[in-house]
Amino acid sequence: MSDSTELPAPEKLPAHVAIIMDGNGRWALQRGLPRLAGHRAGTENLRRIIRACVEFGIPYLTIYAFSTENWGRPREEVNGLMRILEDVIDRELRELNEQGVRIRHLGKLDQLPSRIQEKVLSAVEQTRQNSRLNLNVAFNYGGRDEIIHGIQQMLKDQVDPEQVTPELVSRYLYTSGIPDPDLIIRTSGELRISNFLIWQAAYSEWYVTPTFWPDFGKEEFRKALVTYADRDRRYGKVSSKEYEGSHA
Ligand code: FPP
Repeated sequence: MSDSTELPAPEKLPAHVAIIMDGNGRWALQRGLPRLAGHRAGTENLRRIIRACVEFGIPYLTIYAFSTENWGRPREEVNGLMRILEDVIDRELRELNEQGVRIRHLGKLDQLPSRIQEKVLSAVEQTRQNSRLNLNVAFNYGGRDEIIHGIQQMLKDQVDPEQVTPELVSRYLYTSGIPDPDLIIRTSGELRISNFLIWQAAYSEWYVTPTFWPDFGKEEFRKALVTYADRDRRYGKVSSKEYEGSHA
């Protein structure tokens, strides 16, 4: 496809994009394929979007790959998603490293099969020095679980209640040290947050598209970035332009 849409100026780009990669199952169903074929196609697309982030200079990408609720899916699909995570680490780590991608895991690692835990920890360790793109993989992740985990840690650390601020809470989350997402993309048209980054999304901008994740390629990603660049982020205040106008 041609580069039909121009990319916004670097200062207008989001520093952190988070994606709910939804619609793999319906993509497969439409083609008479098993659901796992949709997840495989979704993985191919993830590769395209990672490359695009590196090319566009977006420093943080967070992907929702497996939620704490996804254990309730048929066993074959759960096992298939675990296998995909393993395959991605086995097959893609070298290229990810070459692209300067640093991998982090968000979620409860200790509930995953031990072989996968080791692979994830090794991928995190092997890419620790990279800084071009921070790829945060939310796998066995849930926003409520993350907040509960943070509260438990705060209590263990005997944090003084008076010291609890938004900044302190942020430091106790899995995303500690990672800026809040500027833009959250949800594919396949659903209008819900699905327990994803529920604390961090307080002031994120949203881009929701009916496109199923396997078809959400570089061009539509670019379009989402252009849409984001045109937004007026007010963080609960009034528009800076409006404010300046009223004081002119
Ligand atoms: C939601 O689509 C998608 C998921 C639950 C899994 C997302 C996983 C990938 C794209 C693979 C990449 C994974 C890793 C580990 C790097 P859905 O199955 O809910 O779609 P549906 O709503 O159409 O059924």
